[in-house]
Amino acid sequence: TTAMAQPVSRFPFAPIAAQIDNTIHVPEGYSWDVLVRWGDPLFSDAEGAWDPQAGVSVDMSERVFGENTDGMELFNVDGREILVVNSEYTNRDVNLPHTDGGTPGSLDDVRILQHLQGVTVMEVAEDESGWSVVIDSPYNRRIHHNSPMTFDGPAAGHPLLQTEADPTGMASLGTMNNCGSGRTPWGTYLTCEENFNGYFGATGDIPADETVAAGYRRYGIGADGWGYDYHLWDARFDTSANPNEPHRVGYVVEIDPANPDATPVKHTALGRFKHENAAYAIAADGRVVVYMGDDERGEFMYRWVSRDAYVPGEDTSTLLSEGELSVAVFDDDMTGRWVPLTPATTGMDVAHIAVFTRTAASAVGATTMDRPEWIAVHPNASEAYCCLTNNSRRGLLNDDGTVRTNAGGDPMSVNAVNPRDTNRFGQIVRWRPVGGDHGAEGFSWDLYVMAGNPEVHADGPYAGTANINAGNLFNSPDGMQIDSTGLIWIQTDGDDSNEGDFAGMGNNQMLAGDPVTGRIERFLTGPNGCEVTGLTWSSDRRTMFVGIQHPDAPFPDGEGSLPRSAIVTVRRDDNGLVG
Ligand code: FEO
Ligand code: CA
Ligand code: CA
Ligand code: CA
Repeated sequence: TTAMAQPVSRFPFAPIAAQIDNTIHVPEGYSWDVLVRWGDPLFSDAEGAWDPQAGVSVDMSERVFGENTDGMELFNVDGREILVVNSEYTNRDVNLPHTDGGTPGSLDDVRILQHLQGVTVMEVAEDESGWSVVIDSPYNRRIHHNSPMTFDGPAAGHPLLQTEADPTGMASLGTMNNCGSGRTPWGTYLTCEENFNGYFGATGDIPADETVAAGYRRYGIGADGWGYDYHLWDARFDTSANPNEPHRVGYVVEIDPANPDATPVKHTALGRFKHENAAYAIAADGRVVVYMGDDERGEFMYRWVSRDAYVPGEDTSTLLSEGELSVAVFDDDMTGRWVPLTPATTGMDVAHIAVFTRTAASAVGATTMDRPEWIAVHPNASEAYCCLTNNSRRGLLNDDGTVRTNAGGDPMSVNAVNPRDTNRFGQIVRWRPVGGDHGAEGFSWDLYVMAGNPEVHADGPYAGTANINAGNLFNSPDGMQIDSTGLIWIQTDGDDSNEGDFAGMGNNQMLAGDPVTGRIERFLTGPNGCEVTGLTWSSDRRTMFVGIQHPDAPFPDGEGSLPRSAIVTVRRDDNGLVG
């Protein structure tokens, strides 16, 4: 009866309630299934290679699906469905069960960890029993911390990128902490290197060179790393021996899913920072625009515009190597602009801008943001969105009364686009480029949503915006894609305690938002402890692939099994389109 009284909804599903259990929920009329779990084989010689008690051998560790699935994109190559997926990080203890708490005791231990992260390219196919990985497909490929790749762009070959092992500064090994994803209009995959700093450590003195040392401070590269201990076994990660190695990560990397022999390319032109994802648009004059966030408290949002126009069918190999990188300034009057990072604006040369991009952005007075995560470009309207996931330190004061800053000393004052101190809920900013041209300098902006909890905070900023209600509570928007119908799919990576400020939000989840009405409805809930991250579709749009990262209870295989990150498929029972 109520259905008749409601306005016509463009949501093709009945929203679901928040959940606190250890499985996935989707709306009535939809079903989900598991496609692949961390450790599942990509090749027949790796069947059974991963064991929940023993982990995987070093030889087999690069022949199984990686851990902690994140951004992903699907490509149709000659009629075959090729899914390319990031593996962001690894849980050391479960992958090195023979060690003391996951601390590597050998180079082989380090190699196992290195192999389980990076990127997986795999063919997937559907039959009557659902989707599965095509074992031994010629497209299947693992790209990890040791895979050869090349540099292009302004820093390629520069002394800052030269190491003893690579005096040319042109050849890198590996891509790491692969977080969000992107794709190009010419059918390649973009993987984005985020928290690369955590893999490095030092066995001796950190280099004295002031530019290098300042970069280490800005990017958080310390002597101990985050526990991977690569530097004790693999000198490449020992910054006292190889001070330039950290300059060789933190980029957007292009991978050709159609050619398993193609060497991935690290595009230094798109800057070095803790890249979340890379969302493309085409400017009015045909140039390629790539929007990117730097996910750290008080860091920035960037835009890159190619020098040359994209012409379908013509050579695209240098499109992402020559162009202009800019950083966002958001004014409180709800306009903003992209400020170019050039030698004239920053006082830095082009190679230093590419390598120390954060420093360049600070020099032009960019707006410090509440941790920019995924950006999504609307396919049918001139607008784009960025998830500003949270910022627990926004607006806080130091002991001396000054406002807290980012690592570059830029203040994190409360402002119109980051309007709340101690922001634990997050918001999504939307911008519309002047003249509908993503290549334009200026834009107008608004907040599509400020997450909050109106059940706990009756009014004021922590209640959230008017499109937040008891039925769609969430916090910490992170992953985001806009489908071909214009629905915004929002994935969360937040506090799932379901208590206090977060009461009623349940587990992390995926919601859909209507960009026109602002209405947001819950579509999927994840298992306990997980983050929902990574979303793409089959070519026929009848299957949605959703990533479940770091569940902390036995998912997906139930009681007694080890929790495993996994990709799940979601379909309509009537075989209809899902976005
Ligand atoms: Fe890897 Fe910012 O999420
Ligand atoms: Ca993320
Ligand atoms: Ca996050
Ligand atoms: Ca994550």
